[in-house]
Amino acid sequence: MARQPILQPDASKDPKEHDSALRPRWLREVIGQKAVVQRLQIVLKACKKLKEPLSHMLFDGPPGLGKTTFATVLPNEMGTALQLTSGPALTKPADLLPFLTNLEEGSILFIDEIHRLPRTVEEFIYPAMEDFRVDIVLGEGMNARTISLKLKRFTLIGATTRSGMLSSPLRDRFKMHEHLEFYSPAELAEILMINAKKLNTPITEEAAQEIAIRSRGTPRIANSRLWWTRHFAASEGDGSIDLAIAKTALAMAEVDRAGLDKQDRRYLETLIGVFAGGPVGIEALSATMNLPVDTLSDEIEPYLLREQFTIRTPRGRIATSKAYSLLGKEEPAKELKDDDTTSQPSLF
Ligand SMILES: Nc1ncnc2c1ncn2[C@@H]1O[C@H](COP(=O)(O)OP(=O)(O)O)[C@@H](O)[C@H]1O
Ligand SMILES: [Mg+2]
Repeated sequence: MARQPILQPDASKDPKEHDSALRPRWLREVIGQKAVVQRLQIVLKACKKLKEPLSHMLFDGPPGLGKTTFATVLPNEMGTALQLTSGPALTKPADLLPFLTNLEEGSILFIDEIHRLPRTVEEFIYPAMEDFRVDIVLGEGMNARTISLKLKRFTLIGATTRSGMLSSPLRDRFKMHEHLEFYSPAELAEILMINAKKLNTPITEEAAQEIAIRSRGTPRIANSRLWWTRHFAASEGDGSIDLAIAKTALAMAEVDRAGLDKQDRRYLETLIGVFAGGPVGIEALSATMNLPVDTLSDEIEPYLLREQFTIRTPRGRIATSKAYSLLGKEEPAKELKDDDTTSQPSLF
């Protein structure tokens, strides 16, 4: 029989599939985001004492930082039920009705990607959030009448990668608004040690730190790097992960020392190679890279900005010296770049 090819990282399943296996179930298992966890502990304790449902909460931040994790931990802590849906799945108010009528006192409704909720659904939700009722219009035209449906006191948890796209009436109806930040390498290493244990994979601390610094500050990415490294260790070694295995596996997955992956580097290469380091608008980058604007702004850019590989100005994105040195490219002299009129060769 032909030898099985080594599993390629891109061939591994949707990373979200690993999420549920490795996701913390209790607040005490959540690593990092200390300030957020502390505030949630206060609210949990208060609401249990006062016998009130949790206040409506909004979590925002780039993908993979723990928005869904918080939303699934909270009902466990409160001992209540959770229903999950998402903005794009709710195309009209009627889509929301089954969720609302299923609510129990104190239970949680989680709406992922809440910035993609259509306007009509959003307006339908306002009275549900404020007064625990919805107004349903029956019939049309002259015969239309509105009935008011009373709901159980529930908690709405919204998650978004784009809190800026939320309308202010919706945003204001959330009593808590938590922004999730990128994780430190030490926090990611801790998550990796715990998750390797859950997967029965021996790992050295050095190896966990190596994977951690190369995970873009993101637990979901750390988990998929772990997944890949674990497969690599099983295929090419005895199944345990040490520093050498981690380094070889990550190099093969084309993850560089800074933790950037192929897509990040392509972004920087386009910005520097095609647009001379910027400033360039996101639409132009998106068109050249043939990727949706959302993918650039929600998934690629936040980490590059935070690590200062790029900066954002009113005139567009600009590559920093750090980006040039990462790609091993010479940075053009400043005076030439800033003085637009003299730096452009004349066409005539
Ligand atoms: N604070 C954390 N502590 C431990 N693991 C985490 C934490 N945040 C996220 N994770 C891990 O990362 C995965 C992705 O997180 P998730 O909550 O799905 O991100 P988001 O919803 O923000 O995209 C989770 O399944 C979990 O394994
Ligand atoms: Mg999520």
